[in-house]
Amino acid sequence: MSRLDATETFDGITFPGHLHTQESLQLALRFPFQDTDIVIVSYPKSGTTWMQQMVTLISNKGDPHVSQTVPNWARAPWLEHHYSAALVDTLSRPRVITTHLPHHMLARALRGSKARVIYVSRNPKDVVVSFYHFHKMANFLPEAGSFQDFLNTFLEGTVHFGSWFDHIKGWTSQLGAMTNLLHVTYEEMSMDCQGSIVKVSSFLQCPLVEDEVNSCARHCSFSSMRDNSMINCTLIPHEILDHSKGSFMRRGKVGDWRNMFTEEQNEHFERVLMGKMQGCSVEFVWGDAAQR
Ligand code: A3P
Repeated sequence: MSRLDATETFDGITFPGHLHTQESLQLALRFPFQDTDIVIVSYPKSGTTWMQQMVTLISNKGDPHVSQTVPNWARAPWLEHHYSAALVDTLSRPRVITTHLPHHMLARALRGSKARVIYVSRNPKDVVVSFYHFHKMANFLPEAGSFQDFLNTFLEGTVHFGSWFDHIKGWTSQLGAMTNLLHVTYEEMSMDCQGSIVKVSSFLQCPLVEDEVNSCARHCSFSSMRDNSMINCTLIPHEILDHSKGSFMRRGKVGDWRNMFTEEQNEHFERVLMGKMQGCSVEFVWGDAAQR
């Protein structure tokens, strides 16, 4: 299946047809989660791959073997991708499943399930910059165009995978209601990787000793992941991901948006953010003045 130029519109959201079909999206909505499942949820470019690596390492007590021999899409497949149906059943327990779907699409499938859900979020200014650069290299995504155009589309919520604002509000609104939901930010992973590993491992009831935590941290550092072909996307053929146009493991920095945004773009973004995030009770680390 190539379908590099195809787009699937589902429930008002567009998805790359290279990875999604109407059937695969329908199947995701009815997915029979098991109570032992670990579900990594994120809006694209929020640190999904990083959390996949962290969870793999935690589950293996810091032993990097699996993370160095099995590609991330095979050990933690995306629920909504067309290849997942065949793959998910072959995973050993606990299964690690990844998804970019908004909460309202998965609410029914998750209702009553004890599956542990980890929601990863990131400063949307860094998300949009990372997503823009990824559009330049991913031949299954629309033309990136100018950064200003891309920023407008992102703020309108009409990029592939839908509105960042709806995604974050939908999932974080469940933080009180779902006891099996953990929120981890890219920024806290960046500022305190060890602390994030301990937080995630205790949520997964997989306690680690200090050496194991240190080993996890070593193998999920930016440099280690950049050099690991099982996680850095270099196994993806050039016609799908044009590696001459960028790297998946690009910068890995908090606040890289400052290198891209003009003062005017920042002011506009802040105005839209303030308006759209009204009613969202979660305090974000990236909301600190230091991150602005
Ligand atoms: P940048 O483009 O800003 O570098 P996702 O996995 O959700 O698609 O997110 C990809 C982003 O996470 C990229 O951001 C990538 O560099 C960053 N990333 C992945 N692993 C990381 C790590 N170990 N440390 C810091 N950033 C990481």
